Parts: sequence; C-alpha cells; structure tokens
Amino acid sequence: MNSPAMQGLNLNTPTYVKNANLIAWVAEMAALCKPAQVYWCDGSQEEYDRLCAELVAAGTFKKLNPAKRSNSYLACSDPSDVARVEDRTFICSALKENAGPTNNWMAPAQMRATLNPLFDGCMAGRTMYVVPFSMGPLGSHISHIGIELTDSAYVAVNQKIMTRMGKAVFEVLGADGAFVPCMHTVGAPLAAGQKDATSWPCNPSTKYIVHFPETREIWSYGSGYGGNALLGKKCFALRIASNMGRAAANETQGSQGWLAEHMLILGVTNPEGKKYHVAAAFPSACGKTNFSMLVPPAAFGGWKVTTIGDDIAWIKPHTDGKMYAINPEAGYFGVAPGTNLLTNPNCMLSLNKDVIFTNVALTDDGDVWWEGMEKDTGALPAHLIDWQGKDWTPQIAKETGAKAAHPNARFTVAATNNPALDPAWDDPAGVPIDAFMFGGRRSTTVPLVTQARSWTEGVYMAATMGSETTAAASGAQGVVRRDPFAMLPFCGYNMSDYFQHWLDTGAQVQAAGHQLPAMFCVNWFRKGEDGKFVWPGYGDNMRVLKWMIDRIEGKAQGQETLFGVAPTYAEITWTGLDFSATQFQTVTSIDKAAWQAEFKLHDEHFSQLSYHLPKALMDTKANLQARLAA
Ligand code: OXD
Ligand code: MN
Repeated sequence: MNSPAMQGLNLNTPTYVKNANLIAWVAEMAALCKPAQVYWCDGSQEEYDRLCAELVAAGTFKKLNPAKRSNSYLACSDPSDVARVEDRTFICSALKENAGPTNNWMAPAQMRATLNPLFDGCMAGRTMYVVPFSMGPLGSHISHIGIELTDSAYVAVNQKIMTRMGKAVFEVLGADGAFVPCMHTVGAPLAAGQKDATSWPCNPSTKYIVHFPETREIWSYGSGYGGNALLGKKCFALRIASNMGRAAANETQGSQGWLAEHMLILGVTNPEGKKYHVAAAFPSACGKTNFSMLVPPAAFGGWKVTTIGDDIAWIKPHTDGKMYAINPEAGYFGVAPGTNLLTNPNCMLSLNKDVIFTNVALTDDGDVWWEGMEKDTGALPAHLIDWQGKDWTPQIAKETGAKAAHPNARFTVAATNNPALDPAWDDPAGVPIDAFMFGGRRSTTVPLVTQARSWTEGVYMAATMGSETTAAASGAQGVVRRDPFAMLPFCGYNMSDYFQHWLDTGAQVQAAGHQLPAMFCVNWFRKGEDGKFVWPGYGDNMRVLKWMIDRIEGKAQGQETLFGVAPTYAEITWTGLDFSATQFQTVTSIDKAAWQAEFKLHDEHFSQLSYHLPKALMDTKANLQARLAA
C-alpha cells in the first residue's frame, strides 16, 4: 500500500473486511499487478447483473433472447484458450519427489522468479476484482475459504455461480481466519489509453497454472478459461485441497486426514424410502454430470436419484464411523455438447434460465445450440453462428466437418437450477457415503461393473483406472491414458503417496471397528465388433446402481471374477430394456489375453510410480495375476 506504485490507487477496502492478512495481501498484489482499480465483490444479484451488462458492453457476452433463455449469456473464447492446459500446470513443492512423476514441477524459488516479472504490471488498465468464496457450505467444518484476485469480470460472475461467493465469506473469515490466496490474470495488460482488441483477452503464448502446496497458494497466468481461471475448482478444490486433506492426517498425531476427490456425489432412494449415497470418480467428460442427475427408467418406479455434486467431493471420516462428503462447489461447469433431453433431461431443464454458456453456437433467434441438440428437435438448425463467430449450416458442417460448438463448450449454472437437486446438497455436515465408484472410458477389457473384494483391491482398481482421452484437456484424443482415481491432472502431490493416503484412511476407519463404503469399478463404454457402444448408458445405468445397492443390502450374491465380484445376468433388473445375455456377455466378459496385456500396462504404470508405491498394490497385482494364470 505504501509502495510508490500504489500511490494514488485506492484499494477501496470495505469497512466490513476485518482480516489484516487479507488486506495486506490485496495491497501487496495490487502493488505488483498495478490494476487501474480494485473492486471487492459482494456477491449480490445487483452486482452480477451489472458485471454481466459490462461484459455485454465489452463484447465478451451476448445476452440471449430472454423469451428463449432468460437472464442468460453466451461468451466465446479466443480459439487458443478453450480447455485446461495440463502441460502448463505446475505443482511447485519444495521437493520434486513430493510433486511426483505425474505432475510438472519447478522449484518454488525458480517459479516465483519466473512469475514475478509476468505478474508485474499484468493488470494494467484493468480492474482487479477481489472475489471472496467458500468451497463448501459457509461455516461447515469441512469447508475452506479462498480469495481470488482476478482481472476478469467473466471469472467474477462465473465464481458467483460456481461457489458461495460474496460478503458473507468475510464474516466467516473474521479478523484472523485463513484463506487460500488465488491469483489470476488473463495476462494481457493494457497500455495507457489502449482498448482491448479482442472480446476475450488472454495471453495466447504464455500460460502458467501454478500451485505452491506448502504455502497453499495458486497463481494462474494467461488463460481465462474454466479450470485455468475459476481457481476454486480444479486448482483449489482438488490440487491444493488434496494436499490439505493429506497434511491433516500428519498435523497432529492421531488426527484424521480427509480426501479431496474428482467425484460426483448422488443420493439414490429406493421405493421403500431407504436412501444411499454414492461418490463416483470418472475422468473429465465421461458423463459425471449425466450420472449425477440420472433419471431412472420407467420400470424403476419409486426409485429416485438426487444430485449432491457433479464434479468434486470433499470426504471426511467422522467419529460415527461413516465417511461424510460435501460438494465444495455451488454450481456446475459442465460440457454442453452431447447434452440433450435423452442423455440428461434434468440438466436440460437446469439450463432454461440464468446460465452462462461458453463456446456454444448462437441461433438466429438468439438462443444457443450445440451438437446433440438435434436429437431433441429431430433436425439440425438451418443456420447458426458457430463458437468462432462464423456462419454454420448443415452443408458447411458436412463439407468441412466444422463443429458449431467447441467440443469442450461449457455451461455455468447454479446447482439450485437442478430439478433433481438433493435436499442435503448444502448440508454443512455432508452426506454419509455408502459406496465409491471408479469408472474409465474403455472400449475393451474392463467389464461393466465389479465390486472390489476389499478396500485395498478397490484402491488397486482406482489406481490403475485407464481412460480414452477427451476434449476436456488440450492434447491428443482417444488414446488410453492411466488416470488413477480420475485424479491424474488434479492430484496436488505424489500420486503414490496419494494411494497410500487412501489405504491409510480406509485402515483407520476399519481399525476403529467401522464398516467401509463398498467399492465398485464400472465401465459404460465397452464397444462391440461394429465399433458401437453396447451398453445403453445414461438412465439405464440405474440398473447397475440398483445391483450395487442389492450388493450392499446383501440381496445379490454376484459371481467371483478375476477383477472382483460381478453381477450374474439374472441379478440385473432388465424390465423395459431389451438387452440379451449375449450382449451382457459382451460388456462383462473378461478376456484372458486382454488382461495379460492390461497387467503389462499396469506394470508400466507402476514402474513410473515406483517411488513410494504402496507394497499393498504390488501384492494385489500379484494376487490378481495369479488368479489369471490359475
Ligand atoms: C472438468 C474437468 O471441467 O474435469 O470438470 O475437466
Ligand atoms: Mn471434472
């Protein structure tokens, strides 16, 4: 505040902000970033509407036709800024081994020396928004507070939807509460009098998404998109929080660690009114949002699925022996293409109003469109403006393959828009988890569903999960990559230590004499010889969910297979679906040669993770291989 650079810049600190560390940090960061002004967000509707109007005036937002989609906007990004940038994402722990082989690492001092000149003056000509947010219900013992400083109004309004954002956070923070400092800039400073030449300022050539786990800081430079910029989500709620959860186990002897997971959380209630809670890990763009809002098929009258979260779970063992989960987020930042009334009716209903769309197409009557919506209307629109502002027609698409919406186009919408929202979604205590599910996108090898025979076997299944890559991250698509626990891009420390943390957390619960949640491995994506998916997926995944509950209730005996306990054909409820025993065989078969090859890949994966790899996982592999050989 006293630096010469800050002379004349009013920090505008509201009188209700009492946290001295926060005020000092904002002053220090303002001195570094040199914004034209500082604005403290209060999270009000009036503020949201005003910032959206400013984004419209700047050309970043188009207001959609209110008769079609009220209070909703479309933003189209720079074509260089459309996804998370994993190759520019760093975990800067003091020791390289603590970031582990799956993360990019740079020594903290070196990274600070790299970032400092980039952040120096990075907000020139722009507003620095101070965005206070709580990950998790305000005041919950599982929640944590973050403050994001950003020069993007787009980020500020998205954070209002995605988090509990606003004034009330300062009350929880008080005079000396802790917060995670989250620095964000689009990395496009403006010279005096210069105006933005583009409606999506970003830095097309330089991007850094940086985490300092020991000091629990996030520094993001150059991108305005999704997980790169909405720092509460992947950066805080997964990379930093995974460190917090593990550190909690070591902080005081005997204290409980907790888990920050890339998992949806759903409630499933049977016709008798008995309710279960499931947390499920799937890699990006594998249908987590769809699964979390599942509508059971007509034959499952009386069954109900309700959403607690669609992407992230924070899970803490409780003294009652159960593991309680909260959704740290307050909204959904979901992939739009492929979403329609068949794949996710609840989601489509959520998107009727109060939505920010990014990188979808604009219809001639001022609404939005993305690939997949033709399934609802039975026809492609005759004309659109695509996500890059170009004309799009079915003919152009046919000739050039041009997509109207970017494959990683997104909607940002409040959880409260979801008609299937669970009444306990905001409960500070969280919900008790009965089962974990782990699923990848595998066209071969991995069966539809199996239950782990022990916690360790479940950890093995999750640790060796593989998935064919999608558009959620930049890079090659369709290649199988190992994505342990769907956390490959999100685990903020050494992956093998993370496996150990899971083993330890389970062991602690068991040692206290409590029953652990059941663990299941699933794969909705097996393909037949014709290259088409065999399992219908979507609402029909209820059939698998019901079998899991039957297992938990002791009603389904299942059958032993190499990779856990699987359903027999007769144990699945088939009413309303024509799915033959042969098709069932196609999605559940365990092919010996394929599994021999699979275990070789597990070997390669484990040799990459050999530093601190838990011996229990190697022992489990040896057991499974012995079963296969038998
Ligand atoms: C997401 C992702 O945006 O996993 O949720 O990439
Ligand atoms: Mn995700």
